[in-house]
Amino acid sequence: MTVTPLTTNQDLDPQRLREAFGIFPSGVVAVAAEVEGRLVGLAASSFTSVSLDPPLVQFSVANTSKTWPDLRRADHLGITILADHHGAVCRQLAGDVDHRFDGLDVSATADGAVTLDDGLARFDTSVYREVEAGDHTIVLLRLHAVAHPAAGEVPGLPLVFHRSGFGSLSRPA
Ligand SMILES: Cc1cc2nc3c(=O)[nH]c(=O)nc-3n(C[C@H](O)[C@H](O)[C@H](O)COP(=O)(O)O)c2cc1C
Repeated sequence: MTVTPLTTNQDLDPQRLREAFGIFPSGVVAVAAEVEGRLVGLAASSFTSVSLDPPLVQFSVANTSKTWPDLRRADHLGITILADHHGAVCRQLAGDVDHRFDGLDVSATADGAVTLDDGLARFDTSVYREVEAGDHTIVLLRLHAVAHPAAGEVPGLPLVFHRSGFGSLSRPA
């Protein structure tokens, strides 16, 4: 393997950066809510857990997002951790806004948090803080409720996003 020296002042070409960022694998979530009777949401691979006390998670949203200005108005937001069979669902949730929820079984809380019924884990959240971060905004979310398989139940495997494609983890023997 050729070792490229890490030199400073190198041109951080966005395309090369995107490829480098894509080497880091991540899970994918659906962020969704009911806003004025309409289902609004998007897929996000930037999700991560942040804090237990207070319970916080975060994701980052592109400042070009047309959906976020609507989504952020919801009282509560649902987060669903997608399973490895959700590759097409994930693409749908990132695609045409008028068809993002077509054929999906979803549930909404009274506060408007929307989650996918067959997600691996589901969170009821609300916006805690938004932090400007370059061409994205880091959205910190406070957790209000969580649903996931009970101890002893075999959980499904998560959808893994890696180098612009979807994969899965192999179940430990
Ligand atoms: C696997 C995957 C991961 C994504 N992760 C993010 C993300 O973390 N943040 C983000 O702003 N958009 C992400 N997107 C894009 C959004 O789902 C959506 O397509 C984008 O926000 C444009 O739609 P909008 O203008 O309706 O927001 C991702 C898309 C895919 C397919």
